[in-house]
Amino acid sequence: MSTPFLLASRFAGVTTSPVRDILSVVNSRDVISFAGGIPDASLFELDDFRAAFDHVLSHQGARALQYATTRGEPELLEQVAARLSRTLPTHPDQVQVTSGSQEGIFLVGQVLIDPGDVVLVEQPTYLAAVQAFAMAGARLVAVDTDEHGVLPDALAAAIAGHHPKFVYLIPTFQNPTGRSMPAERRRAVADVLLATGVPLLEDDPYGELRFEGEAALPLASLPGMAAQTVLLNSASKVMAPGLRVGWLRAEGDILRSLEVAKQAVGLQSAVTDQLAVARYLATCDLDAHIARVVAVYRERRDAMSAGLARMLPEGASLTRPEGGMFLWARLGGATDTALRLPTAVEEGVAYVPGWPFFAGEPDRSTMRLSYVTNHVDVIAEGLDRLGRAFGW
Ligand SMILES: Cc1ncc(COP(=O)(O)O)c(C=O)c1O
Repeated sequence: MSTPFLLASRFAGVTTSPVRDILSVVNSRDVISFAGGIPDASLFELDDFRAAFDHVLSHQGARALQYATTRGEPELLEQVAARLSRTLPTHPDQVQVTSGSQEGIFLVGQVLIDPGDVVLVEQPTYLAAVQAFAMAGARLVAVDTDEHGVLPDALAAAIAGHHPKFVYLIPTFQNPTGRSMPAERRRAVADVLLATGVPLLEDDPYGELRFEGEAALPLASLPGMAAQTVLLNSASKVMAPGLRVGWLRAEGDILRSLEVAKQAVGLQSAVTDQLAVARYLATCDLDAHIARVVAVYRERRDAMSAGLARMLPEGASLTRPEGGMFLWARLGGATDTALRLPTAVEEGVAYVPGWPFFAGEPDRSTMRLSYVTNHVDVIAEGLDRLGRAFGW
C-alpha cells in the first residue's frame, strides 16, 4: 500500500534493532534467551524502590507530578555528582539527567553530527549507538581493536585519515564483547585523543559490575581528558532499567547545547523517577546491592564461559570478561550465526548474531551471549539447545 509519509533521507537504511526484534519472538515462546542484556529482575531492590517512590509521592507529590527543569532534579544531580566524584571530581552543574544513557547517546549525536560527519567507533560496538549516530547522518568508521580494546595506532591513523567529529568508546566491559581496556591502553588512547583534540563520548553503563581484577578509571578521569569527554552513565544496569534514569557528565558549552537538545526531545525526564532514584541513593546502600548482583552474575559468567569453552568447535574463540553482561564468541570459518538463529529459536534458545555490531565489514561468524538473566541450570539447558542448533 502506498504511504503518504515520505521518510527523511537520514532515516534511509535505519532499521529496528535486531535485538528488539528477536526479543519480541523470544518473549512469546518457551525460549531460553541469551539475547538481550536484561538484568535479572529477581535481584531488583523492590522494597527499597517501593519505599523511595512512596516517600516521594507522600512528601513531594505535587512537585513529583509537575513539569520541571530540563537539567534534572537538584537532589539527583547532587547524588550523581557525589558518585562520579569517586573517580572524577564532579560538580552537580556538570551533570545532565537523561532518560537512560541511550538518550545521552542520541543527544550527543544530535548536537555534534552534521550529515556526512565521521564518528569513529570500536569494531565491533554497541548497535543502538550505531543507530543513533546514523539517524543524525553520521558516517561511521570502525577502528580496529584487540582483546584490550581499541588500538591506539589504528585510532591515530583513523583520526588523521577521517577527521572525525568525535570518538565513541565503551572502555569497560564493552557491549558486545565484554572486554575492558587495561590502564596502560587507556593512557595510550587518551594520549592520542589529547594530542589530536578529538572529543570522546565515553559510555560506561557496566563499569561497576566488576567480578574480578582491578577497578578501572574512566578515560574521562585521566589528566586533561575531562574537558574533552562526555561521560555517560546510567541507573539501568546497577539499579533497574525500567526507571529510565541516566545521566551524563560534561564541561563547558556543550552542556548547554545538550540541555537544549533534550528540551526538544522530551522537555525533561520523569520527575517522579528522578526523585525516587535520588531518594534511593540517599537512603539505601547501592554498593551493597551491586555486590549482591555481582556475586550472582559472576557465577553465571563462570557457568556460561566454562560450558561454551567445552563445546565450541576447534578454531572458535570466546572472550572471558571480568565484569558486565556479555560473552562474545567467534566461530570462525563460513558459519553465519544470523542464518543459524531460526534453528536455534526452534530448539528453544536465542542469542544475538554479531553482524549488526559492526560499523565496518562484519564478521558474520560472531555472536553475543548474555549470561545475566538466567540461573545456572537454565544456562546449562540453553547451552545444550545451542549445541544442538549448531551441531556441536
Ligand atoms: C553500551 C551501552 N550503552 C547504553 C545503553 C543504554 O542503556 P540505558 O539507556 O538503559 O541506560 C546500553 C544498553 O544496553 C549499552 O549496552
